[in-house]
Amino acid sequence: MDILVFDTADEVAAAVAGRIVDAVAARPDVVLGLPTGRTPIATYRALRRLHHAGHVNFARVTTFNLDEFAGITPGHPGSFRTFMDRHLFSEVNLAPGRIHFLDGAAPDLDAECVRYETAVDAAGGIGLQLLGIGSNGHIGFNEPGTELVTRTHRVHLAASTRRDNAALFGGDIANVPAEALSMGMGTILGAGTIVLIATGERKAQCVGSAVQGPLTTQLPASFLQLHRHVELYLDRPAASRL
Ligand code: GLP
Repeated sequence: MDILVFDTADEVAAAVAGRIVDAVAARPDVVLGLPTGRTPIATYRALRRLHHAGHVNFARVTTFNLDEFAGITPGHPGSFRTFMDRHLFSEVNLAPGRIHFLDGAAPDLDAECVRYETAVDAAGGIGLQLLGIGSNGHIGFNEPGTELVTRTHRVHLAASTRRDNAALFGGDIANVPAEALSMGMGTILGAGTIVLIATGERKAQCVGSAVQGPLTTQLPASFLQLHRHVELYLDRPAASRL
C-alpha cells in the first residue's frame, strides 16, 4: 500500500482531486468508482473547482457509485444519488448515460444487483475506485460480520452505520432505511487502482487495523491488503494509529 499523510483534510482533498484529474488526463474514458459520505465532500468540491477552471474534462468518463439505500427512490432527498447530484454530477460535464447507480427502488432488488454487476463488467471493470471507510471498518456498505459477499448484493445495515448516516434523513435514525444495496468486496477488489480517503481521529483505529491487522470479515477494509495498487490518502489524525 502507498500511504500518503497530509497535515489537513483540505490538503487530502486537493491531493485526491489532483489524483483523479491525472487519471482522467491519462485515460479520458476511465471508469471511476465513487463513494458517498462526509469524507469525499471536500474532494468533490475540489474536483468541481478544477473542472470549472478547465483542468478536467469528464465527457468520456464513466462512473459507478458504490452503494445506495434500499426502499427509497433516486430522487429522495436522503438518497446517495441525490447526494452525488448535489456534490458532483450537477456541476461537471459527465454524460448522464455514463453515470451508473444502483436503484434502491427497483421492484426486484436481487435482479437489480445482478444488473449492476453486469454493467460494471460491460464497462470493462472499474479503473480507479475511490473509497471512504465507515467508522466500523465497512467499505461501501460491506458491513462487519461473519462473512463477506463477493458481488453486488443486498445488505442489512449495522445500527452504527444507520446512526452515521442519519444526517441524510433529518437526523433521525428511525428514518434511515434498514437495508441497502452495495458492490461486494470482490467487485471493489477488481478495480485497477483503489484510492481510500480517511480523515479525522474517528477513523484512526479502523485505518490502523485495516493496514496492520489480520484479514478479517469483522473489518471489511482489511481485505484491501489483498490488492496490489492501494493508495491511502490520510490526514494526520486518521494516520495516528499507523
Ligand atoms: C457510508 C457509505 C460509505 C462511506 C461511509 C463513511 O456508510 N456507504 O461508502 O465510506 O459512509 O462515511 P463518512 O465519510 O461520512 O465517515
